[in-house]
Amino acid sequence: MTIVVIGGSGLIGSKLVANLRQRGHEVLAASPASGVNTITGEGLAEALAGAQVVVDVANSPSFEDKEVLEFFETAGRNLLAAEAAAGVKHHVALSVVGTDRLAESGYFRGKIAQEKLIREGSIPYTIVHSTQFFEFLGGIAQSGSDGQTVKLSPAFVQPIASDDVAAAMTEYTLGAPVNGVVEIAGPERVRMPELLQRYLAATKDPRQVVADPQARYFGARLEDDTLVPSGKNPWLGSIGFEAWFAKSAASK
Ligand SMILES: NC(=O)c1ccc[n+]([C@@H]2O[C@H](COP(=O)([O-])OP(=O)(O)OC[C@H]3O[C@@H](n4cnc5c(N)ncnc54)[C@H](OP(=O)(O)O)[C@@H]3O)[C@@H](O)[C@H]2O)c1
Repeated sequence: MTIVVIGGSGLIGSKLVANLRQRGHEVLAASPASGVNTITGEGLAEALAGAQVVVDVANSPSFEDKEVLEFFETAGRNLLAAEAAAGVKHHVALSVVGTDRLAESGYFRGKIAQEKLIREGSIPYTIVHSTQFFEFLGGIAQSGSDGQTVKLSPAFVQPIASDDVAAAMTEYTLGAPVNGVVEIAGPERVRMPELLQRYLAATKDPRQVVADPQARYFGARLEDDTLVPSGKNPWLGSIGFEAWFAKSAASK
């Protein structure tokens, strides 16, 4: 199969490209660094010529409310139009578990817009909803930090290692379109403050984590189960926090 991975240079994209090539597929890793830009349209038609499947694992360079929304709307429109012109048979996108429950957050309004374009478009699709990546725990700590303490909602999380995300994305990319959402998550469900305290202790970060039911997650209020899979059969990765941390750059 000929597969184009938009965002092929990113955390998930680079691992997905390697997995797909190892399985013998023709894969183009596309991103602005390699001359393919879904915002300006540069290189898009050429990249998609002859592709059967397109996977979108790009992310907005800015997390400002207005810019995220503009990124996902513009990229989504340009990409889906180019796919229709090229006769692409399957569009696979990576999004976040709970996206539809997180509209109070500017970032998630961008993801909601991205998903809406896919659902309303003409290309058969699979939207993969993933929980937070372990690689993103530092970002979560930063989001709730005032320097000394980290205030976080006590909601449950079930984070997943990027290697597991890439493994799941490989299977969904090579499978048939589901024309709906599939969910993926890590092996352990835990309250966010407890996991973040473990992460800070492991990275020898002296900040203390405080559970605060009023604390927002990137602008959104959370219920206990907002960030964990709501379906009965999520794909579960096998790499837990300790196994991930032992091999991660954060432990160095
Ligand atoms: N972080 C989490 O916990 C989490 C959880 C669930 C789902 N997700 C989703 O996972 C996806 C991938 O995240 P990631 O962490 O792997 O991303 P990442 O490492 O930040 O990589 C982003 C990629 O997007 C590309 N990109 C940026 N602007 C582009 C443009 N105009 N046209 C084409 N490509 C562009 C970048 O290309 P260059 O390298 O050339 O700049 C890069 O390859 C995101 O959609 C995110 O919403 C994240």
